Amino acid sequence: MAILITGASSGIGEALAAELHRRGARLALAARRADRLAAVAARCGGAVPLVCDVGDSAAAERCVHQAQAALGRLDTVVLNAGYGLARTAETTSDAEWLAILRVNLLGTAAGLRAAVPLLRAQPVQDGWRGQVMIVSSSLGRRAAPDTAAYSASKAAQLSLAEAARVELASERIAVTSVHPVRTTTPFFDTCAEVSGRQMEFRGRVPTQTPEQVARAMADAIARPRPEVWPHRSTRWLISLATLCPSLADRIMAGHRR
Ligand SMILES: NC(=O)c1ccc[n+]([C@@H]2O[C@H](COP(=O)([O-])OP(=O)(O)OC[C@H]3O[C@@H](n4cnc5c(N)ncnc54)[C@H](OP(=O)(O)O)[C@@H]3O)[C@@H](O)[C@H]2O)c1
Repeated sequence: MAILITGASSGIGEALAAELHRRGARLALAARRADRLAAVAARCGGAVPLVCDVGDSAAAERCVHQAQAALGRLDTVVLNAGYGLARTAETTSDAEWLAILRVNLLGTAAGLRAAVPLLRAQPVQDGWRGQVMIVSSSLGRRAAPDTAAYSASKAAQLSLAEAARVELASERIAVTSVHPVRTTTPFFDTCAEVSGRQMEFRGRVPTQTPEQVARAMADAIARPRPEVWPHRSTRWLISLATLCPSLADRIMAGHRR
């Protein structure tokens, strides 16, 4: 299989690259930090490194074309690059809203826009022409306090995936959204740097390793499905939260620092 992963220099993207390399995939890996990317690519059997800032939509689109040119085809495009912002709704500035939406939402939309015509031109293999996989979050279904802009960007990614999945189903192009819970990656350090404060929760919050998330994603690349919830019980808890918002508000308030 030929797979592009954005945000592959660290965390979930890096773990997914390792997992897919272990399963025999040919990889193109994208991120901004060339040195980290080169190291991950070398560990993944000489994967193709693509230095790219997905906050620039034209660059995000170009990266998909470069991956296809290097690999010859694209079975799955994993749109994973993103960052977090710890800020209340009241104190999030326009500049912060625009910056996070530019990377997390518009970078993802540009990747999908570039990928779809390429996937459409490919013959069907094992039931699919190809797949777009979008790494949203469990917060895409129910926002947490102090994460308004981040959660909104993740909800928008989910909407993008839901719409595109139905639009593209008849052409045998799969669209999969991924909804990790708290995952032990450098995400929280980067978020603290950007925000000037930690994105922290009180009490016990479900937590997984990037390797656990990567295995669930790799399974959904082998057999495409609409959504991936690597921490399964969270899916049902969040479904309940959408039915009982007052209860969910009380639980969220209890986790607030
Ligand atoms: N960790 C969690 O608890 C958690 C939970 C739910 C969802 N997620 C989502 O999972 C995805 C991966 O996060 P992670 O936990 O693996 O965090 P991470 O370790 O910080 O990785 C983020 C990746 O995105 C890349 N990236 C960030 N901004 C970019 C940009 N403008 N252009 C290109 N690449 C960019 C980073 O590479 P460079 O800095 O080298 O560009 C890095 O490779 C994110 O979309 C995040 O929202 C994370």
